[in-house]
Amino acid sequence: MSVFRTKSIEASMASADESDHHLKRRLSALDLTVFGVGVIIGAGIFTLTGRAAKDYAGPAIALSFVVGAVVCGLAALCYAEFASTVPISGSAYTFSYATLGELIAWIIGWDLLLELMLGASVVAQGWSTYLVKLLDQLGITWPESLAPGSHFDLPAFILIALLTTLVAIGIKESLRVNLVLVAIKLFIVLFVIFAGIGFINRNNWTPFIPPSQPGEAASGLTTPLFQAITGVEPVTFGVLGIMSGAAVVFFAYIGFDVVATTAEEAKNPQRDLPIGIIGSLVICTVLYMAVSLVITGMVKYDKIDPDAALASAFTSVGKDGYATLISAGAVAGLTTVVMTLLIGATRVTFAMSRDRLIPSGLGVTNERTGTPVKLTIIIGSVVALIAALTPIGKLEEMVNIGTLTAFMLVSIAIPILRKRRPDLKRAFKVPGSPVVPWLSALLCFYLILNLSIETWIRFIVWMAIGFLIYFAYSRHNSKLATGEPESGIEGSPEVLSER
Ligand code: ALA
Repeated sequence: MSVFRTKSIEASMASADESDHHLKRRLSALDLTVFGVGVIIGAGIFTLTGRAAKDYAGPAIALSFVVGAVVCGLAALCYAEFASTVPISGSAYTFSYATLGELIAWIIGWDLLLELMLGASVVAQGWSTYLVKLLDQLGITWPESLAPGSHFDLPAFILIALLTTLVAIGIKESLRVNLVLVAIKLFIVLFVIFAGIGFINRNNWTPFIPPSQPGEAASGLTTPLFQAITGVEPVTFGVLGIMSGAAVVFFAYIGFDVVATTAEEAKNPQRDLPIGIIGSLVICTVLYMAVSLVITGMVKYDKIDPDAALASAFTSVGKDGYATLISAGAVAGLTTVVMTLLIGATRVTFAMSRDRLIPSGLGVTNERTGTPVKLTIIIGSVVALIAALTPIGKLEEMVNIGTLTAFMLVSIAIPILRKRRPDLKRAFKVPGSPVVPWLSALLCFYLILNLSIETWIRFIVWMAIGFLIYFAYSRHNSKLATGEPESGIEGSPEVLSER
């Protein structure tokens, strides 16, 4: 059978109803929006904003956030249409299985795993950095040999172990924890904005777009592919600096797409998913622009602390107490991001196991908790080890390339699905299709081209492993390959042994 075989949307919906492989529908539009905000606001705003302002864009980092918002906004519209048409767990993976075929679906699933698992690791490392900073501000010294940047980042490891347990216990329970932490995080972000306004010195905003200057010559494997191909002289600041800044702060927006992974747990997915996806993105865009304007107004861009810009801005105006509060808020805030990314990763693999692209025994939901416990533990263990053992600052670009590839493929899939299945009920439609989806795909591709050669090589290796698994296992065992009926799961050995 062809690797472009598609799983019909009706079949996808049917498999969601399988008794042992279904999730409980308990989430409202508000839950989904909170979930979105919880995963979007994280290491991006707390750490990357300062770094990108200092190195690439100056005060115009606020404009980089606009560019990032446009790229993500277009992709969000595509995600919203898909999620409202195919409200099934698994996000982009499921959408593409119904449209672009099994191989592309596998590629997207594999990309999403990269985004979600590495994303969780990166943010856990950021969390650990803030925790050690906070402890330090409180007069407690954390042993250096077990701190972030050492051989074993113990705080990151412990955080992921705890969160994995929460996620395994049940999504609603996890969301309750999430709600409290998101409230704290929003408070801190609003606090930075309102407490900081009084300290803004307008002179710091001049020039708003610093004149472009030759960048630190990116050389060898760290050269962005785009520059390597075109031979453009690398520059920072100026208009191109705004673009480079956008490629960096793109990370800050990652997560709205994760809302779509909870489709099966939404009470009214057709209506609530678009609200959750677009609503959370809009809220975050406004907050990000405000924070970046306040920070670059408080501190001249070339004096910004690249590690903890938000807290340090207040230290620089003599408000140490505020800085401690912000560090504490960051610790709380980053927790929810890691947890939500973990939930997303379990949901994507869950959908893949239900389709038998990975062994189905892994995806059986536990009767009591209603969650795929086995998968959750496997994913949590891998993420914990990656976070504890990989050096800081090495994984962000990998997260971006995985995410952007998935965004691009989802955007391309929108006009294809409209053509193939005009009959499907679409509660939400992307305006201006096919131009808008194509534009979305193009912008994503432009950002991908701006990632380094090194990242491209790592990504190609990751994809090669994915292809190996697909052609050695998944292709022969998928439900589409074996012809197993969608409702044929009851009584299968894996399900019985799980009970
Ligand atoms: N958007 C998330 C963050 O900034 C991944 O941490």
